Amino acid sequence: MGIKGKSLLGLEGATKEEIELILRVAKKMKTVVNSENKKLPLLHGKSVANMFFEPSTRTRSSFELAAKYLDADVLNFTPSTSSLVKGESLRDTLLTVTAMGVDAIVMRHKQEGAPLFASQCVDPLIINAGDGAHEHPTQALLDLFTIQEVKGHIDGLKVVIVGDIDHGRVARSNIYALKALGADVHLVGPRTLLQPDLATLGVTIHYELEEALVDADVINVLRIQKERQGSGFFPSDREYATLFGIHQTSLRQAKEDVLILHPGPMNRDLEIGTDVCYGPHSAIQEQVKNGISVRMAVLYLTIIGGDDVDLTR
Ligand code: NCD
Repeated sequence: MGIKGKSLLGLEGATKEEIELILRVAKKMKTVVNSENKKLPLLHGKSVANMFFEPSTRTRSSFELAAKYLDADVLNFTPSTSSLVKGESLRDTLLTVTAMGVDAIVMRHKQEGAPLFASQCVDPLIINAGDGAHEHPTQALLDLFTIQEVKGHIDGLKVVIVGDIDHGRVARSNIYALKALGADVHLVGPRTLLQPDLATLGVTIHYELEEALVDADVINVLRIQKERQGSGFFPSDREYATLFGIHQTSLRQAKEDVLILHPGPMNRDLEIGTDVCYGPHSAIQEQVKNGISVRMAVLYLTIIGGDDVDLTR
């Protein structure tokens, strides 16, 4: 078993064993993140290129810190100041970065399938850091890690994903991973942002928030993706906030110890109220922290491999 030498393009088709391996190693990595000395030379002599063609705060920074904590060298490629603006193609840019000898490329791109294309063009491992509305595997892995840390397990939990499902790569990756680990997955949002045919993935679809939240163990609130949507998906922000925004009062239907997640960045007071995002049920800041451990695990297991990690080295 193991995922050495495999690009991480998405979680569709990922096995329970592969996901559990990443979560297990991430748990060990978290002891490093929490310790005084965060450097562990497991990727010493390796190099990782961060190629973000779309804005990012959390994902880009945490991939950078994850690689640095493992002692890899990190190349931060910035498209807006690169030869892409002189007309160099994506393929030629990837070949150029590859010629510099990087071992892995972490890639975010607005075009669905761009990481798959990259994996077909060049040899380094490709780690998908979000491609259009398709997948965002490390975000889903850190969501699962956070759920497991708080709840102790994932199987049998009712997880409700709320909001802009159709434009959300986080939703898709979460559905694949949560299903692989035996969660009961529910989706809720307005009809214009939630296709009924997603039910073929083995999830339950709702169009009413109250009904969806009954006995929920986890609520994962997604950002309204204004930049991907165009307009006209709902009449007004105020209406969306009233019908689908998660506020303290929405939690009445859920279990008493319901866990609230949001991948960030938040449209505060649109999809989530300030009372909830900084309230006692929220693990939103812990998700950010866990992102580093999960990305350390992914980089380590894809570049070095194995079915565990020895932290005594
Ligand atoms: C997500 C993304 O960029 O896909 N954010 C993230 O990576 N933390 C979700 C989002 O943008 O809504």
